[in-house]
Amino acid sequence: MDSKMRINGGKPLMGTVEAQGAKNASLPVMAAALLLKNSSLRISRVPNLLDVNTMADLLRSLGARVLFSDHEMFISIPDEISWETPSDLVRKMRASSLVLGPLLARCGRAIMPLPGGCSIGSRPIDLHLKGLTKMGATIELVHGAVHAHTKGLSGGRIYLDFPSVGATENLMMAAVFAKGETVLENTAREPEILNLVETLRSMGAIIEADGTGVIRIQGVDSLHSAESRIIPDRIEACTYILAGAATNGEVTVTGVIPNHIDSLLAKLEEAGAQMTVTHDEVTIHPSGRLKGVSLKTLPYPGFPTDLQPQIMASLCIAQGTSVIQESVFQSRFLHVSELNKMGAKIDIQGNTAIVSGVDRLTGADVVATDLRAGAALVISGLAAGDSTYIYHLGHIRRGYEDMEEKLKSLGADVEILPAEIDGTRESQSSVCRES
Ligand code: UD1
Repeated sequence: MDSKMRINGGKPLMGTVEAQGAKNASLPVMAAALLLKNSSLRISRVPNLLDVNTMADLLRSLGARVLFSDHEMFISIPDEISWETPSDLVRKMRASSLVLGPLLARCGRAIMPLPGGCSIGSRPIDLHLKGLTKMGATIELVHGAVHAHTKGLSGGRIYLDFPSVGATENLMMAAVFAKGETVLENTAREPEILNLVETLRSMGAIIEADGTGVIRIQGVDSLHSAESRIIPDRIEACTYILAGAATNGEVTVTGVIPNHIDSLLAKLEEAGAQMTVTHDEVTIHPSGRLKGVSLKTLPYPGFPTDLQPQIMASLCIAQGTSVIQESVFQSRFLHVSELNKMGAKIDIQGNTAIVSGVDRLTGADVVATDLRAGAALVISGLAAGDSTYIYHLGHIRRGYEDMEEKLKSLGADVEILPAEIDGTRESQSSVCRES
């Protein structure tokens, strides 16, 4: 049975939390292990999250041995692996599609059901498939599944119409064994991409990526055992910084890489937040009410779409109006109706949310419709004057390790309770599988 979170809000958060390893770096790095043969990948600082465990199960279903304890993961890959991914696991999580490139490169074929629909907009994988086709794969859609095969991928120039994170990762992994040089242009530049590049290099791949959106890969014949370390989770870290801002508290997040979160820090500064930033810590100090600001989500280094719901929650109680434009995903505004239930004043016009700051939020029963929407409701619940109940916590657990414990360590009054079976709430369950 799903559980619900009760938050008795209205108290400033005070204290220090450590950032977890990045979910969005762990998933592609784990998928990269499939490129190995009779060798292994040891990964440190892996967060213990639902999505990470789903990827571990997916790798196991393909024949890998995966051991995971205390944030250390050991993946060992035998000589032969399966190239057919089970539909139940793929449908659970969009990021399952990250195994397509490695399987095709390693086995010459792959069968993968198309990831399902998602409540944060339609999320096709056409760029992944177009790139793989350009590298010499034959791809057919059979009963809703991708059937891909190749007699050997070859390099070439691939321009991505949009700097998709997943397509960049999939194509980079596919190109590791491709004949000759592959040049990927207009790639994503997220820090998680560079974490994958470093991992592939440590496995013996030859890749040049300098963060400019061009990645060059020289095909090699084989890879070898390696070790990798996951970077800090910039989205998780920023969620706690925003919770500090929304509660007028003093929160330090340790183990962060501040230049990964420049876009948020700049926006908070513009909104009047007082902060201290060192080489690996960010502290938000009590700053009173934030001022309304405008922002647009963009691929990195722009403002992350994965922080749009959380900053919106903090800006609901800012002085003045904020204008938030979502340009990465369609319909990533499902948190708005829930925030409005708590007394926020948000109007949606197309892909823009106009947030008129209110003096205070009030507690309500709200539903987490996806991972980051859930995080936004936690922030608004912490800021609200009374009790908030958040349903469908499963979404939050996909991306936040020990959130309730971390919040308690900051002095928050939160409790996890069993959710009653409630037809109305159950019927609001979303189908989102990715943040
Ligand atoms: C990754 C992140 C996710 C984040 C997103 C954008 C992981 C595991 N997940 O998701 O948390 O919100 O980046 O920063 O890293 N698109 C296409 N065709 C494609 C691929 C993408 O049209 O083939 C569109 C998507 O529908 C979306 C946009 O491009 O509108 C961005 O998607 P993409 O960058 O691929 O996101 P993901 O890799 O799925």
